[in-house]
Amino acid sequence: MPGLLAGKRLLITGVITDSSIAFSVARLAQEQGATVVLTGYGRLSLVERIARRLPSPAPVLELDVNDPAQLESLADRVREHVDGLDGVVHAIAFGPQSTLGGGFLTAPWEDVAVALQTSTYSYKALAVACEPLLGPGSAILGLTFDASQAWPVYDWMGVAKAGLESANRYLARYLGPRGIRVNLVSAGPLRTMAAKSIPGFEAFEQAWVERAPLRWSLTDIEPAARTCVALLSDWFPATTGEIVHADGGFHAVGA
Ligand SMILES: NC(=O)c1ccc[n+]([C@@H]2O[C@H](COP(=O)([O-])OP(=O)(O)OC[C@H]3O[C@@H](n4cnc5c(N)ncnc54)[C@H](O)[C@@H]3O)[C@@H](O)[C@H]2O)c1
Repeated sequence: MPGLLAGKRLLITGVITDSSIAFSVARLAQEQGATVVLTGYGRLSLVERIARRLPSPAPVLELDVNDPAQLESLADRVREHVDGLDGVVHAIAFGPQSTLGGGFLTAPWEDVAVALQTSTYSYKALAVACEPLLGPGSAILGLTFDASQAWPVYDWMGVAKAGLESANRYLARYLGPRGIRVNLVSAGPLRTMAAKSIPGFEAFEQAWVERAPLRWSLTDIEPAARTCVALLSDWFPATTGEIVHADGGFHAVGA
Protein backbone atom coordinates (compact mmCIF):
# COMPACT_ATOMS: atom_id res chain seq x y z
CA MET A 1 0.00 0.00 0.00
CA PRO A 2 1.51 3.37 -0.93
CA GLY A 3 1.59 5.73 2.05
CA LEU A 4 -0.53 8.84 2.51
CA LEU A 5 2.49 11.02 1.70
CA ALA A 6 4.15 8.80 -0.93
CA GLY A 7 6.58 10.85 -3.02
CA LYS A 8 6.06 14.06 -1.03
CA ARG A 9 9.04 16.23 -0.10
CA LEU A 10 8.66 18.03 3.23
CA LEU A 11 10.60 20.68 5.12
CA ILE A 12 9.93 20.35 8.84
CA THR A 13 11.07 22.94 11.40
CA GLY A 14 10.86 22.71 15.19
CA VAL A 15 12.61 19.47 16.19
CA ILE A 16 14.56 19.90 19.43
CA THR A 17 13.78 16.67 21.33
CA ASP A 18 12.03 13.44 20.43
CA SER A 19 8.99 14.82 22.30
CA SER A 20 8.75 17.73 19.83
CA ILE A 21 5.50 17.68 17.87
CA ALA A 22 7.69 18.17 14.78
CA PHE A 23 9.61 14.96 15.54
CA SER A 24 6.42 12.88 15.54
CA VAL A 25 5.26 14.59 12.34
CA ALA A 26 8.62 13.78 10.70
CA ARG A 27 8.50 10.15 11.87
CA LEU A 28 4.91 9.59 10.69
CA ALA A 29 5.56 11.44 7.43
CA GLN A 30 8.51 9.15 6.64
CA GLU A 31 6.42 6.10 7.56
CA GLN A 32 3.82 7.40 5.08
CA GLY A 33 6.37 7.66 2.27
CA ALA A 34 7.64 11.26 2.50
CA THR A 35 11.21 12.49 2.10
CA VAL A 36 11.95 14.80 5.04
CA VAL A 37 14.43 17.64 5.43
CA LEU A 38 14.63 19.16 8.93
CA THR A 39 15.72 22.55 10.14
CA GLY A 40 17.28 23.10 13.53
CA TYR A 41 17.75 26.17 15.65
CA GLY A 42 20.78 26.77 17.87
CA ARG A 43 21.78 23.38 19.18
CA LEU A 44 22.36 21.78 15.78
CA SER A 45 24.38 18.79 16.98
CA LEU A 46 21.50 17.91 19.34
CA VAL A 47 18.95 18.19 16.51
CA GLU A 48 21.22 16.03 14.31
CA ARG A 49 21.37 13.41 17.05
CA ILE A 50 17.55 13.40 17.35
CA ALA A 51 17.23 13.27 13.53
CA ARG A 52 19.17 9.98 13.55
CA ARG A 53 16.31 8.45 15.60
CA LEU A 54 13.92 8.83 12.66
CA PRO A 55 13.13 5.76 10.54
CA SER A 56 15.47 7.29 7.88
CA PRO A 57 18.06 9.79 9.06
CA ALA A 58 17.08 13.25 7.76
CA PRO A 59 19.43 16.10 6.83
CA VAL A 60 19.31 19.11 9.18
CA LEU A 61 19.65 22.68 7.89
CA GLU A 62 20.36 25.56 10.25
CA LEU A 63 17.47 28.02 10.55
CA ASP A 64 16.93 30.82 13.00
CA VAL A 65 13.55 31.89 11.66
CA ASN A 66 14.29 35.47 12.74
CA ASP A 67 17.54 35.67 10.72
CA PRO A 68 16.88 37.27 7.29
CA ALA A 69 20.13 35.92 5.80
CA GLN A 70 19.33 32.34 6.79
CA LEU A 71 15.80 32.72 5.38
CA GLU A 72 17.18 34.22 2.15
CA SER A 73 19.49 31.24 1.57
CA LEU A 74 16.98 28.59 2.72
CA ALA A 75 15.53 27.65 -0.69
CA ASP A 76 19.01 27.09 -2.19
CA ARG A 77 20.06 25.04 0.83
CA VAL A 78 16.90 22.91 0.60
CA ARG A 79 17.61 22.35 -3.14
CA GLU A 80 20.85 20.58 -2.19
CA HIS A 81 18.64 17.75 -0.83
CA VAL A 82 15.34 17.83 -2.77
CA ASP A 83 14.34 19.48 -6.07
CA GLY A 84 11.21 21.13 -4.63
CA LEU A 85 8.78 20.96 -1.72
CA ASP A 86 5.25 19.60 -1.36
CA GLY A 87 4.90 20.70 2.25
CA VAL A 88 6.37 22.97 4.92
CA VAL A 89 5.77 22.56 8.65
CA HIS A 90 6.14 25.54 10.98
CA ALA A 91 6.45 24.16 14.54
CA ILE A 92 8.12 27.15 16.14
CA ALA A 93 7.21 29.27 19.14
CA PHE A 94 9.19 31.16 21.74
CA GLY A 95 8.48 33.83 24.32
CA PRO A 96 10.93 35.24 26.89
CA GLN A 97 10.03 34.29 30.49
CA SER A 98 8.55 37.75 31.18
CA THR A 99 5.87 37.20 28.52
CA LEU A 100 4.49 33.99 30.06
CA GLY A 101 3.49 32.65 33.44
CA GLY A 102 1.43 35.57 34.74
CA GLY A 103 3.53 38.49 33.46
CA PHE A 104 0.97 39.78 30.98
CA LEU A 105 0.69 43.23 32.57
CA THR A 106 4.40 43.75 33.14
CA ALA A 107 6.19 42.19 30.15
CA PRO A 108 8.20 44.90 28.35
CA TRP A 109 7.63 45.52 24.64
CA GLU A 110 11.17 44.33 23.77
CA ASP A 111 10.28 40.87 25.12
CA VAL A 112 6.78 40.87 23.62
CA ALA A 113 8.34 41.79 20.27
CA VAL A 114 10.59 38.69 20.43
CA ALA A 115 7.56 36.50 21.17
CA LEU A 116 5.54 37.96 18.29
CA GLN A 117 8.40 37.84 15.79
CA THR A 118 9.34 34.25 16.62
CA SER A 119 5.84 32.83 17.04
CA THR A 120 3.70 34.87 14.60
CA TYR A 121 5.65 36.83 11.97
CA SER A 122 7.93 33.83 11.38
CA TYR A 123 5.02 31.89 9.86
CA LYS A 124 4.82 34.41 7.03
CA ALA A 125 8.62 34.69 6.85
CA LEU A 126 9.05 30.91 6.48
CA ALA A 127 6.25 30.70 3.90
CA VAL A 128 7.85 33.42 1.75
CA ALA A 129 11.30 31.83 2.06
CA CYS A 130 9.90 28.48 0.83
CA GLU A 131 7.52 29.83 -1.80
CA PRO A 132 9.96 29.38 -4.74
CA LEU A 133 9.99 25.63 -3.98
CA LEU A 134 6.22 25.16 -3.63
CA GLY A 135 3.89 24.28 -6.49
CA PRO A 136 0.13 23.79 -6.89
CA GLY A 137 -1.21 21.19 -4.44
CA SER A 138 1.46 21.89 -1.84
CA ALA A 139 0.71 22.69 1.78
CA ILE A 140 1.97 24.96 4.54
CA LEU A 141 1.11 23.86 8.05
CA GLY A 142 1.51 25.50 11.46
CA LEU A 143 0.58 24.72 15.06
CA THR A 144 -1.59 26.81 17.31
CA PHE A 145 -3.04 26.61 20.79
CA ASP A 146 -6.68 27.77 20.73
CA ALA A 147 -6.44 31.56 20.77
CA SER A 148 -10.17 32.21 21.06
CA GLN A 149 -9.91 32.39 24.86
CA ALA A 150 -7.57 33.95 27.45
CA TRP A 151 -5.91 31.04 29.28
CA PRO A 152 -4.14 31.10 32.64
CA VAL A 153 -0.37 31.83 32.27
CA TYR A 154 -0.31 31.65 28.44
CA ASP A 155 -0.31 35.46 28.31
CA TRP A 156 1.54 36.99 25.34
CA MET A 157 1.90 33.58 23.70
CA GLY A 158 -1.91 33.59 23.51
CA VAL A 159 -1.76 36.95 21.74
CA ALA A 160 0.96 35.58 19.44
CA LYS A 161 -1.24 32.57 18.62
CA ALA A 162 -4.22 34.84 17.88
CA GLY A 163 -1.94 36.65 15.42
CA LEU A 164 -0.79 33.33 13.99
CA GLU A 165 -4.39 32.29 13.40
CA SER A 166 -5.02 35.54 11.54
CA ALA A 167 -1.75 35.25 9.59
CA ASN A 168 -2.90 31.76 8.57
CA ARG A 169 -5.99 33.26 6.95
CA TYR A 170 -3.99 36.00 5.20
CA LEU A 171 -1.42 33.52 3.91
CA ALA A 172 -4.29 31.38 2.61
CA ARG A 173 -5.64 34.45 0.80
CA TYR A 174 -2.29 35.39 -0.76
CA LEU A 175 -1.02 31.90 -1.61
CA GLY A 176 -4.32 30.29 -2.63
CA PRO A 177 -4.12 31.60 -6.23
CA ARG A 178 -0.84 29.65 -6.57
CA GLY A 179 -2.58 26.47 -5.40
CA ILE A 180 -0.84 26.45 -2.01
CA ARG A 181 -2.97 25.43 0.99
CA VAL A 182 -2.25 27.01 4.39
CA ASN A 183 -3.69 25.48 7.57
CA LEU A 184 -3.15 25.21 11.31
CA VAL A 185 -3.57 22.32 13.70
CA SER A 186 -4.84 23.45 17.10
CA ALA A 187 -3.39 20.90 19.51
CA GLY A 188 -4.32 20.33 23.12
CA PRO A 189 -1.59 20.63 25.78
CA LEU A 190 1.40 18.31 25.29
CA ARG A 191 4.44 18.07 27.54
CA THR A 192 7.10 19.21 25.09
CA MET A 193 10.13 21.34 25.94
CA ALA A 194 8.28 24.53 24.92
CA ALA A 195 5.26 23.65 27.09
CA LYS A 196 7.36 22.67 30.10
CA SER A 197 9.14 26.03 29.97
CA ILE A 198 5.83 27.85 30.64
CA PRO A 199 5.58 28.41 34.42
CA GLY A 200 2.18 27.14 35.61
CA PHE A 201 1.39 25.24 32.38
CA GLU A 202 -0.11 22.45 34.51
CA ALA A 203 -2.88 24.93 35.50
CA PHE A 204 -4.94 23.98 32.46
CA GLU A 205 -3.47 20.56 31.68
CA GLN A 206 -5.71 18.86 34.20
CA ALA A 207 -8.85 20.53 32.86
CA TRP A 208 -8.07 18.96 29.49
CA VAL A 209 -7.62 15.49 30.86
CA GLU A 210 -10.89 15.77 32.81
CA ARG A 211 -13.08 17.59 30.25
CA ALA A 212 -12.05 16.60 26.74
CA PRO A 213 -14.87 14.39 25.41
CA LEU A 214 -12.30 12.08 23.81
CA ARG A 215 -9.43 10.81 25.93
CA TRP A 216 -6.54 13.32 26.06
CA SER A 217 -3.02 12.30 26.99
CA LEU A 218 -0.47 15.03 27.78
CA THR A 219 2.36 12.80 26.59
CA ASP A 220 0.88 11.22 23.46
CA ILE A 221 1.94 13.39 20.52
CA GLU A 222 0.60 10.98 17.92
CA PRO A 223 -2.99 12.33 17.59
CA ALA A 224 -1.76 15.87 16.83
CA ALA A 225 0.99 14.57 14.53
CA ARG A 226 -1.44 12.37 12.59
CA THR A 227 -3.68 15.38 12.02
CA CYS A 228 -0.69 17.29 10.65
CA VAL A 229 0.16 14.42 8.28
CA ALA A 230 -3.44 14.28 7.06
CA LEU A 231 -3.41 18.02 6.28
CA LEU A 232 -0.12 17.65 4.41
CA SER A 233 -1.65 14.89 2.26
CA ASP A 234 -3.81 15.24 -0.84
CA TRP A 235 -6.92 14.45 1.22
CA PHE A 236 -7.74 18.07 2.17
CA PRO A 237 -7.64 19.46 -1.38
CA ALA A 238 -10.24 22.22 -0.82
CA THR A 239 -9.22 23.25 2.70
CA THR A 240 -7.20 26.40 3.38
CA GLY A 241 -7.15 29.18 5.97
CA GLU A 242 -8.53 26.52 8.32
CA ILE A 243 -7.80 25.57 11.93
CA VAL A 244 -8.31 21.87 12.58
CA HIS A 245 -8.54 20.97 16.26
CA ALA A 246 -6.65 17.93 17.52
CA ASP A 247 -7.53 18.49 21.16
CA GLY A 248 -9.79 15.61 22.16
CA GLY A 249 -12.78 17.86 21.46
CA PHE A 250 -12.06 20.18 24.40
CA HIS A 251 -12.81 23.34 22.38
CA ALA A 252 -16.34 22.11 21.69
CA VAL A 253 -17.56 21.73 25.26
CA GLY A 254 -18.20 24.05 28.21
CA ALA A 255 -17.44 23.32 31.84
N1 LIG B 1 3.10 21.53 23.45
C1 LIG B 1 1.87 22.04 23.43
O1 LIG B 1 1.09 21.91 24.39
C2 LIG B 1 1.40 22.75 22.20
C3 LIG B 1 0.01 22.88 22.00
C4 LIG B 1 -0.43 23.57 20.86
C5 LIG B 1 0.49 24.09 19.97
N2 LIG B 1 1.83 23.94 20.21
C6 LIG B 1 2.77 24.53 19.24
O2 LIG B 1 3.50 23.51 18.60
C7 LIG B 1 4.69 24.09 18.06
C8 LIG B 1 5.86 23.19 18.39
O3 LIG B 1 6.13 23.24 19.78
P1 LIG B 1 6.38 21.94 20.68
O4 LIG B 1 5.32 21.94 21.71
O5 LIG B 1 6.61 20.75 19.83
O6 LIG B 1 7.72 22.33 21.49
P2 LIG B 1 9.28 22.16 21.18
O7 LIG B 1 10.00 22.87 22.28
O8 LIG B 1 9.61 20.73 20.95
O9 LIG B 1 9.46 22.96 19.80
C9 LIG B 1 9.57 24.37 19.72
C10 LIG B 1 10.61 24.64 18.63
O10 LIG B 1 10.72 26.02 18.34
C11 LIG B 1 12.07 26.20 17.91
N3 LIG B 1 12.45 27.61 17.88
C12 LIG B 1 12.38 28.51 18.90
N4 LIG B 1 12.90 29.70 18.46
C13 LIG B 1 13.27 29.52 17.16
C14 LIG B 1 13.86 30.35 16.17
N5 LIG B 1 14.20 31.63 16.42
N6 LIG B 1 14.08 29.84 14.93
C15 LIG B 1 13.77 28.56 14.64
N7 LIG B 1 13.21 27.71 15.54
C16 LIG B 1 12.98 28.21 16.78
C17 LIG B 1 12.85 25.40 18.94
O11 LIG B 1 14.18 25.14 18.50
C18 LIG B 1 12.00 24.14 19.04
O12 LIG B 1 12.46 23.17 18.12
C19 LIG B 1 4.76 25.50 18.63
O13 LIG B 1 4.24 26.41 17.69
C20 LIG B 1 3.84 25.41 19.82
O14 LIG B 1 3.31 26.66 20.23
C21 LIG B 1 2.29 23.27 21.28
